[in-house]
Amino acid sequence: MNLTVALSKGKLLGGSEALWRRAGLPFPEAEGRKLVVPMDGLQFLFVKDMDVPTYVEYGVADCGIAGRDVLLESGSDVYEPLDLAFGHCRLVVARLRGSELDYRRAGTLRVATKYPRIAAGHFLERGISAEIVKLSGSVEIAPGLGLADCIVDVVETGRTLEENGLEALEDVAVSSARLVVNRASYHARREALRRLLEALRKALA
Ligand code: PRP
Repeated sequence: MNLTVALSKGKLLGGSEALWRRAGLPFPEAEGRKLVVPMDGLQFLFVKDMDVPTYVEYGVADCGIAGRDVLLESGSDVYEPLDLAFGHCRLVVARLRGSELDYRRAGTLRVATKYPRIAAGHFLERGISAEIVKLSGSVEIAPGLGLADCIVDVVETGRTLEENGLEALEDVAVSSARLVVNRASYHARREALRRLLEALRKALA
């Protein structure tokens, strides 16, 4: 097929591999430490989830798999031809369970998040003044330790919120894994990408 595919090393990796194999496409055996892995005409790049759209937008990868949450955050200019129907989760605003926080009445709200762009957009749309504190992970501890009034983060099972004494206050977006394609590759590598899309669509049907 002669395509370069960017995949996340994070939560979407298991679902990506399962779908790829169901589609009868080559996938590297056990993931070693190698981050660029050629296999049967495909080249796989294993990168951080937030970097998948970047590799695809800049054309280093022809395509990739990224969560809608990551795509909304990155704002990258890529095609998104297929919802891959795994990796379902929600982005929510969450606060300490039982807290009095009514952020519509608070002054400037302090919000901890891995998703500064989504969070800023969410509060701006609602006319709520928010100071965004960017974190790289473990965001759920921020309200309890006084770093933030609330968080914007991903909820899958709800367990992390629960175990850290938080509750969801409102939904921001829903997410699932998407196939993303570089705009130039979409034309230049049309035949290879058409075959890839067809195999994935069949596996999803
Ligand atoms: C994600 C997310 C939540 C958790 C939600 O974190 O940021 O912390 O998963 O999943 P749950 O609702 O099933 O508990 P991730 O595992 O990616 O780690 P991180 O917080 O360090 O980014």
